[in-house]
Amino acid sequence: MKVAVVGATGLVGSEMLTVLAARNFPVTELIPVASERSKGKEVEFKGKKYKVVTPDEAIALKPNVALFSAGGGTSTEYAPKFAAAGITVIDNSSAWRMDPTKKLVVPEVNGDVLSAEDKIIANPNCSTIQMVVVLKPLHEQYTIKRVVVSTYQSVTGTGVKAVKQLQDERAGVEGEKAYPYPIDLNVIPQIDVFQDNGYTKEEMKMIKETNKIMGDDSIRVTATTVRIPVVGGHSESINIEFENDFDLNEVRTLLAKQQGVIVIDNPANLEYPMPKDAHGKDEVFVGRIRRDESQPKALNIWVVADNLRKGAATNTIQIAEKLIEKGLL
Ligand code: A2P
Repeated sequence: MKVAVVGATGLVGSEMLTVLAARNFPVTELIPVASERSKGKEVEFKGKKYKVVTPDEAIALKPNVALFSAGGGTSTEYAPKFAAAGITVIDNSSAWRMDPTKKLVVPEVNGDVLSAEDKIIANPNCSTIQMVVVLKPLHEQYTIKRVVVSTYQSVTGTGVKAVKQLQDERAGVEGEKAYPYPIDLNVIPQIDVFQDNGYTKEEMKMIKETNKIMGDDSIRVTATTVRIPVVGGHSESINIEFENDFDLNEVRTLLAKQQGVIVIDNPANLEYPMPKDAHGKDEVFVGRIRRDESQPKALNIWVVADNLRKGAATNTIQIAEKLIEKGLL
């Protein structure tokens, strides 16, 4: 299969190359794509070097599938052009996620919605992905009424510039800023731009995307999204109120059985998920599973995943794998 990675020089794009190789995705030819600035640069994949091309050159090379992670502007402009050329696009930007004509997919949750008509498929926001994988089996068993989530998000979610800002601040050198404030030794309660209702765009993404992926608008969600000086992954404190009561041991069993989820929950041995352990892994890790003693039928959990993996590259490639499994690619 001819695979184009649009944004191959970026953080998510290079993680896509790693994940394609690690999962042995059937790549017969790789087409790394980036901006005009990177044209001709070399990218390594499975020990071979490939020259970076522009999006227009990539279309002419007719890949079977194009994995996009080059920002919303690039996706808005180029995804329709790729699709018109018969190339299936799986897009990691927010450009198409809430378009009612496009599917928003986390394979373990709603992979069954994919059909032959889908030529541009949206990959959800990183924070939403790791949350819905965990919500799904709990919703099926107990029916979720309301979710209150607070996030602790890695600087890698912002891109190369943000990782550099953190490193520069640590080294005490002046450099380009990805954030309006220092990130080292700090916490920034703003991810993406503010909306009229006082929430940030990231918070509204978590709310709307959760309803769309779960296929259930009755689940009420509220979110506070926060950037912290960490690189390994995103963490989330999630409070879930159910329609029906639950048994904690059963909750642990349901989560342990959920595909793509690993439970690490052993307070006696100080065992719980942390971003440094999730780093480079494809799974979503859950711990600190406990009853909310302030409210009936409510649960508190702590969820961690590598935002560049399950939150981005891995989920995108799992969508492509699902298309292959269904004979759609
Ligand atoms: P380039 O390296 O040429 O700028 P990150 O979010 O980690 O900063 O990465 C963004 C990715 O998107 C990079 O690979 C970047 O390529 C790519 N990109 C940005 N603008 C365009 C564009 N107009 N066309 C194609 N790729 C783009």
